[in-house]
Amino acid sequence: MSTPHILVLATGGTIAGAADSATRHDYRPGQIGIEELLAQVRTLGLDAKFTGKQIANIGSEDITPAIWRDLHSAADDGIADSAFDGIIITHGTDTVEETAFLLDLTLPTTKPVVLVGAMRPATAVGYDGLRNFANAVQVAADREAAGRGALVVMGDRVFAARDIRKNRTRGTDAFAGFPRDAVGLVTPSALDWFGAPWRMGEDARFAFRADLPDVPVLFIHAGITPDYVERLVTNDTRGIVVCGVGEGNMPEPVRARLAELASTGLRVVRASRLAEGLVDREPEDDTNGFIAARALSPAKARILLQLLVAAGVTDLAAIQSEFDRR
Ligand code: SIN
Repeated sequence: MSTPHILVLATGGTIAGAADSATRHDYRPGQIGIEELLAQVRTLGLDAKFTGKQIANIGSEDITPAIWRDLHSAADDGIADSAFDGIIITHGTDTVEETAFLLDLTLPTTKPVVLVGAMRPATAVGYDGLRNFANAVQVAADREAAGRGALVVMGDRVFAARDIRKNRTRGTDAFAGFPRDAVGLVTPSALDWFGAPWRMGEDARFAFRADLPDVPVLFIHAGITPDYVERLVTNDTRGIVVCGVGEGNMPEPVRARLAELASTGLRVVRASRLAEGLVDREPEDDTNGFIAARALSPAKARILLQLLVAAGVTDLAAIQSEFDRR
C-alpha cells in the first residue's frame, strides 16, 4: 500500500496546550498551531504524510455550533477528496464525546474519521499527545476503521462515538466506553480490532445543521422543584433532556410539569446522571409522553434530539425508535 495521506483538522485542546513549566498543573489549552504539532509528529518517522488545517484553537469547553459547522464541512470535503485516506481531528478531551457523536451522525462512513486528544499539555513531562496522535495515525490509515462511524483514540484504546465517555478529570486513562468498551487496541506499531466494521459505506444518517434547536439539559438533584424547569424552558425550546437520578428519575412535581409540557409538544428525554447504565422505557413514559435515552449520556441524548427535531421528526414513537437504535 502507498504511504497514506491523512488530513489533520485541528481544533485545540490539551493536545495543543502549553504551560510555563514542564511540571505545573495549570496550563492553557489551544496554544500550539497545527503546523507546530505536525513538525513534532514528523520527527516520529511514521509512514504517513499529513496535510494540516487549523479549524480553531480553543479549549473544547468553548466549542460552538459555528466551529462544528466549519469542522463538519472540512471533514466532509476531506472524505470526498480522493487525495486523502483518512481524517484525524485533534480536539480537547472535555467535549470530544459530543463532537464525535455529532460527526458520527452527520458524516458518511466511507473513510476513517478519528478524533484524538491528550490529558497532558505539549510542554508537560510525560506528554501523551504525541503517542495518542501516532496511535490515531494507525487507525486513520486503516481501511477497516471506515464503517465504524467516528472513532476516538485515547490511551492506546479506540472507542466508538456512541460509547465514549470521559470518566476522570486527570490521568491518561480518563476514558471508558458504555455500553460497549473499546472497539480496538492500538499502539504506534499495531492495531487490533475486536470485531468487523458494522457501518461500512453508510451515508450520513442526518443532515448537518449549525442552527440546531434549543434543547436544554435539566440536572436533577435532591430538592429540585418545578421552578428549575421554568428557568430553562423558553418559547424557543423544542425539547429538554432530563439528566435524572438513577434510571432517569425525577421528583413527582418535576415529572408532572414536564408531562404537561410534553402534552404541548415539547419533547422530553429521560437520561441518567450516572456514568453507566441503560435508561429503559417504563410504562409511565406512555402516559407522560416521555422518551427513554437508552444508552446515551445526557449530552449525547441532547445532540440526537436536536438533530431529530431539526429534521422534523416529532412523533414520540419515531424518536424513541431512534434512541433504541443507537
Ligand atoms: C479541553 O477539553 O480543551 C481541555 C481539556 C483537555 O483537552 O484535556
